[in-house]
Amino acid sequence: MPQTIEKKSNSAPLHVAIIMDGNGRWAKRQNKARFFGHRAGAENLRRVVETCPKLGITTLTAYAFSSDNWGRPQQEVTMLMQLFRTYLQVEIQNLIKNGAKLTFIGRRDRLDSKIVTMMEKAERDTAAGQNVHLRLAVDYSAKDMIVEAARHLAGKDSISREEFYRALAYSQHDAEPVGDVDLLIRTGGEQRLSDYLLWECAYAEFYFSPVMWPDFNADRLQEAVNDFKRRQRRFGRIPEAAAV
Ligand code: FPP
Repeated sequence: MPQTIEKKSNSAPLHVAIIMDGNGRWAKRQNKARFFGHRAGAENLRRVVETCPKLGITTLTAYAFSSDNWGRPQQEVTMLMQLFRTYLQVEIQNLIKNGAKLTFIGRRDRLDSKIVTMMEKAERDTAAGQNVHLRLAVDYSAKDMIVEAARHLAGKDSISREEFYRALAYSQHDAEPVGDVDLLIRTGGEQRLSDYLLWECAYAEFYFSPVMWPDFNADRLQEAVNDFKRRQRRFGRIPEAAAV
């Protein structure tokens, strides 16, 4: 007997992941240096985080710096790290005010130790946030995280998905598994995953927007959520009407 499923989810995505792409092109279109685009992108992240609770989103995982981003020109890497420091200095009070909890996923051993200290402080200071959980992926590579999780489990005979998920959480500095991604949004027009949340996106719905990240405002996020609500998630099964 085939299993049946709801025809439409009609409910908000609880876990949304965002690839914040297009900062550089946004700046170029205005004849400005790429820095302006990244700064506008960081400001937009604040607005999007504030919007999440209104849309029913409980977890937002945003790609701030991929492990492959180390390969950008040194000047841009330095600028992104400086922007990250500034974000950690100025944004914490806003996050606390908005009831947001901030944690980080990714490697910490290659980041400046002062930045790591700031990240850990930010995690402590926002730990009580209940309205939305913002996870920032920094020096993050899904492949590396999966390899690291596998290393932790090496030698074990049989490993369940749950055990693997716990090892993955440990390897990427999550206190515990936060659950799969419901909706993956990529701005900036490209349609690829770029080594992001490969395990957690197994059944994610994808939403690709041509809008550059600094312009992806609350209305755009609402559109993405509305689009998600209209989709039928089947998880490999079939709709009830077809199960005859
Ligand atoms: C992609 O745009 C964006 C990044 C590599 C970094 C994302 C960073 C931010 C949104 C701002 C910083 C965030 C924090 C939390 C401090 P791109 O540079 O690839 O843009 P392009 O494709 O138009 O060149």
